Order: sequence, then C-alpha cells, then structure tokens
Amino acid sequence: MYRWLRQGLFLLEPEKAHDVALAGMDVSAKLGLLKTLFPPPSDKPIDLMGLRFKNPIGLAAGLDKNGDHIEAMGALGFGFIEVGTVTPRPQPGNERPRLFRLPKHHALINRMGFNNKGVDHLVAQLQNAQFDGIIGANVGKQKTTPLAQAAQDYCHCIDKVYPHCDYIAVNISSPNTPDLRDLQHRDHLEDLLRTLTQRRYELTQTHGVYRPMVVKIAPDWDGNALEETLAIIQNAGIDGLIATNTTIDRSTVTNHPQAHQAGGLSGPPLSSLSNATLAAARRVVGNEWPIIGVGGIDSAQAAVMKKENGADLIQIYTGLIYQGPGLIRQCVHAWPQ
Ligand SMILES: Cc1cc2nc3c(=O)[nH]c(=O)nc-3n(C[C@H](O)[C@H](O)[C@H](O)COP(=O)(O)O)c2cc1C
Repeated sequence: MYRWLRQGLFLLEPEKAHDVALAGMDVSAKLGLLKTLFPPPSDKPIDLMGLRFKNPIGLAAGLDKNGDHIEAMGALGFGFIEVGTVTPRPQPGNERPRLFRLPKHHALINRMGFNNKGVDHLVAQLQNAQFDGIIGANVGKQKTTPLAQAAQDYCHCIDKVYPHCDYIAVNISSPNTPDLRDLQHRDHLEDLLRTLTQRRYELTQTHGVYRPMVVKIAPDWDGNALEETLAIIQNAGIDGLIATNTTIDRSTVTNHPQAHQAGGLSGPPLSSLSNATLAAARRVVGNEWPIIGVGGIDSAQAAVMKKENGADLIQIYTGLIYQGPGLIRQCVHAWPQ
C-alpha cells in the first residue's frame, strides 16, 4: 500500500512531495483514518532522563520543523516527536532545489538551511498540540548570527520552548548553516554549554520543572576530536546525546548522479558512519549516559543494530520516506526489552 503511494509521491519534486504527503496525513489524522491505515504499535515503555517514552522510536528533527504536524506524527505511533530545528526568527533557508533523492540507495541529500517559521510559531503549535507522547524541541541559530553570539540565539529559543516541551535538543551539527559545526569544538563548545546549562538552571527555578537538554552531533570526525567533544558535553552537565546528524561524506554513494549535491546525506549510506560514531560515543561516555541513535534506520534489523551499538532510543527520518509508516511498528516490535 505504501509502495503504491510512494510511487505517486516520487513523481513530484522532493520538497513538493514532502508538503503533499504531510498535508494528506494531517487530513487523514483529523478524520481518524491514519490509525486505521497504519495501526500504531502497542506500547513498549522506556524510562530515560526522567521521562517516560511510550516506545523507543522517535521522529527525527527536520521533518516537522514548525510543529505543524504533531497530531499526524503522533497518530503514526511514534513514542516521541522532535520538532525543529527552530531559530529565533523565521528564515527562508537555502534556495530551491535543496532536497534530492538517491532512490537507488534509499537516501536523501538535503541543504535546507534551517528554513522555519521562527520559535514563536512553534510555541503556538506546541500549546495546541494533541499528543500523549514526549515532545522534544530542537533549537538552532539564525544563519546571520555570528558564532560568537550563537549562545544568545540558543538561549532565546530555549527560553520560549521551555514550558511547552519535554526535552530540548541543541543542534550544533547541521552541515547546512555555515560554520555551525565549529560549535562542536572546544573553542566554542565550552562557553556555549556553560551558558546554556546556566540558563537551564534559571529556567528550572522559574518554572519549577527540569527539562533534560541533549546535544546533537555530526557523524564526521577526525582524529580524537569526538572524544574531546564528548568529554566537554558530559562535563558541562548535559543530559544526553543525539548521534547523529547527516554526513558530508559521499564515499558510500560515489557515481550517483546526485552525489555531488552539497548538503547532508541521510538514509542507509549514512549508517556505517553514524553507527561507528554511536559506538565510539558509547565507549567514551559509559553505559549510564543517555544516547539517542539516529542515522540510516530503514528496517527492524537496522533499529536493533542501533541498540547493539549503544542507543537507548532511536529516531528515524529518511526511512519513513522510503519505507512508510509501517517501519515504526516494525522497529517497536523488534526492539529488545
Ligand atoms: C530533509 C531533512 C531535513 C533535516 N533537518 C534537520 C533539522 O532541521 N535539524 C536537525 O537536527 N536534523 C535535521 N535533519 C537530520 C535528521 O534529523 C537525521 O539526523 C538524519 O537525517 C539521519 O537520520 P535518517 O538517516 O533516519 O534520515 C534533517 C534531515 C533531512 C533528510
């Protein structure tokens, strides 16, 4: 059934297909059809970071950047939904085309560039959201904000989303905002995280509730840079990690006509790099520290492999596009308890 739907959607330009599919899902969710077409999985609860996730499969950031589709995503059976990345003010993102399919590899390349309606719009959506699962808010910086002032953008977004979400994801790993990944390195990271954890302390006092804060990292690392970054993140009092964002590496898709496109590669060609980063991170941070694994999950086996490499929870994006919503159920069922 989804294969047939996908064939139709893939006749459209990728970003158009994305919009059409989400609009269709919104209507189907409202009519109660989505749950009939794609029966959600039964619960498989997991407790992590002081939160109860009804199942370990989440929607990765970037698919619902503005929180406009929370109901539909919830109806598909996700245990948690990460909305964003959102920035303080609306921004258009990069010029189109900026999303490319690599069907032979079941992969995507995107250079969206944090196109979003701004944090105030997201907050309004969160206030009206009908979803009984966990919601994470993924925050970033405006394209035009210099790195030296990036902390102000992150704080601005965190202040606004804090009362309306369950956890906060700090995105310093998108390859599509110039220099953003420099925030992953010592020069910027220590200061940034000191500011963010201090702000979280103040918000905890103000709102009387502690929101876990996780950092999302890239899969592209040289030498022992990953180890150094992880030590900084853990020592800063951050609650966990999301590993990983998309890759700028193209070695797994060489010769594909779209391989030259600038941006981040996602889907199965990202798995080995993403899994290696996850496994390395797990070795460095020990067994107790929370890690959400993401990158290249397109089957129940790939989900289980994330668990074996050290993930406590997982997220999917590209797998949902190629395999359809049935993937959520398959992953939940296969997840070892
Ligand atoms: C079109 C597209 C847009 C994305 N936008 C974001 C984003 O705004 N913020 C973010 O943290 N990750 C973003 N991502 C990365 C995903 O959240 C995820 O980390 C990555 O795609 C790897 O997972 P996958 O192989 O299951 O897609 C985006 C991915 C895609 C394909």
